[in-house]
Amino acid sequence: MAPRVIVVTSGKGGVGKTTATANIATALAALGNKVVAIDGDTGLRNLDVVMGLENRIVYTLLDALDGTCTLSKTLIRDKRVEGLCMIPTAQSRTKDAVAPEQMEHVCDELKKDFDYILIDSPAGIEAGFRNAAAGAGEALVVTTPDVTAVRDADRIIGLLESMEKSPIRLIVNRIRPHMVMKGDMLGVKDILDVLAIDLIGMVPDDESVFTSTSRGDPLTISSTSRAALAFRNIASRIAGNDVPYIDLEAPQGAGLFGFLKKAFGQGR
Ligand SMILES: Nc1ncnc2c1ncn2[C@@H]1O[C@H](COP(=O)(O)OP(=O)(O)O)[C@@H](O)[C@H]1O
Ligand SMILES: [Mg+2]
Repeated sequence: MAPRVIVVTSGKGGVGKTTATANIATALAALGNKVVAIDGDTGLRNLDVVMGLENRIVYTLLDALDGTCTLSKTLIRDKRVEGLCMIPTAQSRTKDAVAPEQMEHVCDELKKDFDYILIDSPAGIEAGFRNAAAGAGEALVVTTPDVTAVRDADRIIGLLESMEKSPIRLIVNRIRPHMVMKGDMLGVKDILDVLAIDLIGMVPDDESVFTSTSRGDPLTISSTSRAALAFRNIASRIAGNDVPYIDLEAPQGAGLFGFLKKAFGQGR
């Protein structure tokens, strides 16, 4: 299999990109792949903490780009999961510290040793996102089921399309089934109607995510929570397996769909 480089993006911040990157990378490695997760969110780095590897940082991606060390020196091997590595970024630099060409070069180098390269990126449509996404072939767009996040996801999807990323697939994170049933939260079908990209997974809003983040213990290492299962299913679908979707919700948020359409004007 040719190595795959996948950027994890969103329009709006705080929707779960870093959580998704850590858990999907871990689950892909648990499936027997060689995986590296790169923190592409320079300045706000978080992936190291969510993966529980912050105490092992010696060099960052920026050190390799500055020529202070080789790229392989920046790789932190996760001792809990065979085949899993991460590359941290710097906290003290700004989002434009990594140029698109540099990111492409880094990804090309890593393709020699890894099956999957996942890149956690900053939210939004600014330079930081473009830099993080430069080396990627494919994209995962994360959104939560609220109108502003979905509208921002629409913008980022347009940009990813113009950058010729393919496939671009959607993760709907933090779904609360009882709210969808009451019509207080957008349903996944509503979101897919608007965004018109393929779904790769739905993740429930789950307290286990909070505890796993605080402990630096990705859920897909050993948790049996619903969110853990959802992230494992996403990894398995990325790897090409046909995994049935769990029905996280029943009736759709009809009232909110009208509001969503209005928020989009004539739509994309
Ligand atoms: N499925 C979920 N259930 C509960 N909390 C979640 C879920 N996904 C993410 N979170 C929480 O939301 C916050 C933002 O997540 P994060 O992954 O850092 O977002 P981003 O990288 O997009 O800014 C974190 O506190 C995280 O624990
Ligand atoms: Mg993040």
